[in-house]
Parts: sequence; structure tokens; C-alpha cells
Amino acid sequence: MRIDPWSSQSYADYARLREEFGIEPFDATGLPDQPPLFRRGLIFGHRGFGAVRRAIERRERFAVMSGLMPSGPMHLGHKMVLDQSLYFHSLGADLFLAVADIEAYAARNIPLEKARRLAEEIYIPNYIALGLPEERVQIYFQSRRQAVKDLAYLLGRRTNLTEMKAIYGFEDSVNMAHLFSPLVQVGDILHVQLPDYGGPRPTLVPVGVDQDPHIRLTRDLAGAHRLFSVEPQKEGGIGVFARGEEDPAPLLKAAKNALKDRYGRFDESIPYRALFVRDAKNDEIPGIDRALLKIEPSLGGYGFHPPASTYHRFMSGLTGGKMSSSKPETHISLNEPVKEAMKKVMGAVTGGGATVEEHRRLGGKPEVCPVYELYMYHLASDDADLQEVNRTCRSGERLCGNCKKEAAGLLESFLKDFEEKRKAAADRAKAVVRDD
Ligand code: TRP
Ligand code: SF4
Repeated sequence: MRIDPWSSQSYADYARLREEFGIEPFDATGLPDQPPLFRRGLIFGHRGFGAVRRAIERRERFAVMSGLMPSGPMHLGHKMVLDQSLYFHSLGADLFLAVADIEAYAARNIPLEKARRLAEEIYIPNYIALGLPEERVQIYFQSRRQAVKDLAYLLGRRTNLTEMKAIYGFEDSVNMAHLFSPLVQVGDILHVQLPDYGGPRPTLVPVGVDQDPHIRLTRDLAGAHRLFSVEPQKEGGIGVFARGEEDPAPLLKAAKNALKDRYGRFDESIPYRALFVRDAKNDEIPGIDRALLKIEPSLGGYGFHPPASTYHRFMSGLTGGKMSSSKPETHISLNEPVKEAMKKVMGAVTGGGATVEEHRRLGGKPEVCPVYELYMYHLASDDADLQEVNRTCRSGERLCGNCKKEAAGLLESFLKDFEEKRKAAADRAKAVVRDD
């Protein structure tokens, strides 16, 4: 199986996805003030979240990064990523939002000018209406941020066509801009760790699993640009290795300097490009690695922490099957007329019985019902309310017609409120974009 970020494949079997791609199961235990997505287990996996959790617990700096391709409408599915990003911002993260205009041009042939208009008129006002903070936040365009494009170009040195084809399944007929666009996303995710943008620190990218190929590539390239690697040694202790081909002596000296407060028994080997730390234990490797990351920028490296990711479940389409940006009947857009949206809810497929009589007798199946998903992902902020929908659906007390009416009503007040906020945001939209 291959994950393709530009197709409209659906990925329902989350356990299998995790296994096949080495995604870890996500456990939200211990995170403070969790929003519904977290409390309800809708985040099914992660890569490297431990580093972010650690930063949260210690109140250390970290960043959260997301982006949107200004192409189709922004629907409730997209809102999930922003909800997560805002949550992590509330826990202390610096928030970065990319307008992926280069990707939209490369993969969807949307001119930069049009992307800019869409972003300024729709996406950014939506962000503001969803609660974009005023502090510790940057919205930028890929095409206008030189640091992102430079990194894309420079980091591309460490991947090749074979790898790009293996990860993305590109055919030989792919246009070169599209072939290159994943590197621009790598630039997005890693540039937040450059000194001008806050420096090396843990970074989280909340995404749908369709974006996992970009995460893998980014983590690979962050690792490929490390100056040091740290490995356990058979005879005990750990080894710090100077990577690459440059003279290892100054690197090893700097490494020793960084570690000498904590350890006392060092052996250096220039031919092995290694500093052996005899009195270090294997479980101290992450701490040693963090100390080395810190000094890498002063030694000519980047010191990139491998970016972490979380993966949320996808909402189903209202017509059954997959929710798709290009099929309006399958989703609720944040910008559609309230009446239209309500009509879609009323027409949605459900997990209810074939007849009222059967429904009363056997109960409904919330676990396969897109209307229930609306409650679970967006409409029921209170867990007790959601429980009640679930219970009365299963018992057959709740009929689908009434249930949809209630959902449509909740959606109506959400969208009306949202529309007002969005109108009020229109003036601010241009001002919040950083023009670099
Ligand atoms: N590729 C993402 C999409 O299709 C958009 C994106 C661009 C992005 N840069 C990013 C997402 C950085 C997360 C992080 O929507
Ligand atoms: Fe879905 Fe509501 Fe019908 Fe249950 S009662 S199947 S949740 S629409």
C-alpha cells in the first residue's frame, strides 16, 4: 500500500496503517485541558510525539506547524487540524501556518495570484474566525518566504529520484514543480527551527494520514543533516560519532565539552570519528542527543529536532464513503450558506434502521453514522451530551429524523456565529500575513 497526498484515497483501517508505516498509537493521557478530538480518541497515531510531550511538561519552547493548499473549499475536516494547532498553541507552542501556494500551483495548477486571493478572502478569515491567536503566530505564503525555498533547495541534496518515487509513487511524466513540491513542505516544517524563526526546538505537525509521506521525508532529511549520531556500544557506554566527511577533531572536542558536566570517562578515536562516553547508559541517549542538537548550529549544522506528527481520523462523507473537497455533497464547508448545510445534514445517510419500526426494535449504529460523527467531531462539545446521543441511538429511542434535526440546529448556530466572526475578520486578514 502507498499513501498518496494528492489522491482522494480513503484510509479506514487505522491499526493496519499504523503497523504498515510504523506509526505509533497515540495516548493522550496526561495532556491538560484536552479538547474533544483528544478526549474522544480521534487522534489515532503519532510519530515522535514524546519530544513534544516533554516540552509541554517542562514548559520548554516548541512549535506547531500546519498548512493548507488554497484550492478547494475549507470544510469541517480541515477544521480538525486547526483545532489541534490552536490547542497546542494554548499549551505554549509558537504557531506557524503555511499557505501552500507553491504546492497548489505545482499539483493543482492554481496560479499564485488566485491562491493569494483565496487565502486572503477565505482561508485566513476562516482561521481568524476559528480563533487564531494574536501572539506567537505567523501566517506566510510558501512563494514569499525565502528561507522555506532555500531550505527546500539545500535539503534536497540528501534525497534522490529513487526515494521520491518510492515515497510518492511519482511517474516519469510528473512535472518538475510537482516533483519538487514535497521539498517545499520539508522547508515549511523545518524552517521554524532556523535561528530567525525561533531556533532548534521540538515541532509538531498535526495532519491527516494522507500527509504522512511528507512527514517521513522531513524526518529523514532532518536526520540526514545531523552532525552527530549517538549509538549504544556493545562493550558498554555510548558512542558519539561525527558524521560526514569533515575533520572530526573539532566536532568531537565540542561534543566532549557539551557532555563533560554530566560524564567523566571519555575516550576519543579520530579514525573511528568517535567519542566514547564510558560512563553513559543507553537510556541516557536521548538526553545526550539533545545536548548535541543544541551545539550543532554553532558547528555549521542545523540542529533540527526531528519533527513530530499526530494523525487524526478522517470524517466520513455525508453521503457515505469518503469526505472529499471536490464533492460538495459529501462535506460541510465552513463558508456555505447555512440553509444548504442544514439540507445536507437532513439528507445524510445514517446508521439507523431501514424502517422506524426496525430502528425502534434494534436501535441505530452510531459507529457507522456520519451524523453521529458530526456530533462527535464538532457539534457536541460536552461529553455527557455525546454519550446521551450514543445511548439513545443504540437503544432505538432516538429516531434519525429528530437526531438530524437536532444536528442541523447545532450546525446552524455554529455556522451563523462563524459567519459573523468571519465578516468581522475580513479587515484583519491581510494584516496578519507576514510578508516574508
Ligand atoms: N500539503 C498540505 C495540504 O495538502 C499543506 C501544507 C503545506 C502543510 N505545508 C505544510 C501541512 C506544512 C502541514 C505542514 O493541505
Ligand atoms: Fe445516526 Fe442519529 Fe440515526 Fe443514530 S439516531 S443512526 S446517530 S442519525
